[in-house]
Amino acid sequence: MKKSFKALVTMQNNDGTYINIVKERTTNELPDGDLLIQVEYSSLNYKDALSASGIKGITTQYPHTPGIDAAGIVEKSNNSDFPPGTSVIVTGFDLGMNTSGGFSEYICVPSKWAIRCPNNLTTKEAMMIGTAGLTAGLSIAEINERCKIKDANIIISGATGGVGSLAVKLCSLLGARVTAITGKMSKKDFLLDLGASKIIERDEFINGTRHPLNKGLYNGAIDVVGGDILSCIIASMDYNGIIAACGNAGGPKFESTVFPFILRGNHLIGIDSANCLIERRKIVWERFSKDWKLNGLDKICKTVDLDGVIPEIAKILKGKQTGRILLEL
Ligand SMILES: NC(=O)c1ccc[n+]([C@@H]2O[C@H](COP(=O)([O-])OP(=O)(O)OC[C@H]3O[C@@H](n4cnc5c(N)ncnc54)[C@H](OP(=O)(O)O)[C@@H]3O)[C@@H](O)[C@H]2O)c1
Repeated sequence: MKKSFKALVTMQNNDGTYINIVKERTTNELPDGDLLIQVEYSSLNYKDALSASGIKGITTQYPHTPGIDAAGIVEKSNNSDFPPGTSVIVTGFDLGMNTSGGFSEYICVPSKWAIRCPNNLTTKEAMMIGTAGLTAGLSIAEINERCKIKDANIIISGATGGVGSLAVKLCSLLGARVTAITGKMSKKDFLLDLGASKIIERDEFINGTRHPLNKGLYNGAIDVVGGDILSCIIASMDYNGIIAACGNAGGPKFESTVFPFILRGNHLIGIDSANCLIERRKIVWERFSKDWKLNGLDKICKTVDLDGVIPEIAKILKGKQTGRILLEL
């Protein structure tokens, strides 16, 4: 392996602000772990932008290398389940939080965080999907356990973002009628291409929803926004509706009443991709290589290198990102 390698490093300035630079690092600086992985691809998620900007609650120690996603090839291993040469995916757990992350040519992690990249899925495809797609997949698996996605009416918020765009694409592949909520009506064609059948502007959705119960329109929902959007989604679910709550891009607080739950039997389910059981992740990743195989991912992904990811960090924090950012190492 190379003596030194490149990584993005977030550093705190003396005035308390944060800066991202690309630096040479050595493997001695990486944490202990039984797998040393040469990272081929990573991807940008909302949490990475929080970490790379010093926003409280994600990373406590700087300098730090963000990146909650990584896929690549095992270079050194203390676990015979992952011999050198194995293609692996690592997402979530503490990667990129307080463990040096995937915005780097190398990571060193516990093998219990890794899964083998399934046959029929490249490391590039895995990172085009990344944590965003895993979250969409976990949400869809939860909805599918209680109501068949095929022919269901599914509403998805933050639809042009990472989780949202992959959720729209996968739900439409599975035969759902997808309503996309977005703040970017200029990206209507992007959402139609993903398979959305109806697009509602964010404020129009909020202003047009009656509380505590709106007309019951949707069988399933994937919400990455939280706040008022989640309140309105809960009010708009049909009988036995399933709401997968997975994000807070618009705010953590929401208001509701018991009525959608006791009069319509709705279910509000929390999704956590970072710490969910490895067995559950394996099922979702296997499906992405088989019946959930997503074609045309390159159309929703922009590929950047380590220097190129820096401007994308500011953009995702402002909610301006469309689709996914793939980081090629
Ligand atoms: N639970 C989990 O395991 C998990 C995993 C991944 C991500 N997340 C969370 O899910 C959320 C989205 O993550 P992401 O990676 O998909 O981020 P993203 O690519 O930035 O997508 C978020 C989208 O939400 C919408 N949005 C942004 N700011 C908003 C606001 N103030 N009010 C209403 N809508 C807003 C925008 O879409 P439109 O313009 O189309 O409305 C934006 O593109 C984040 O809160 C993230 O932390 C959770």
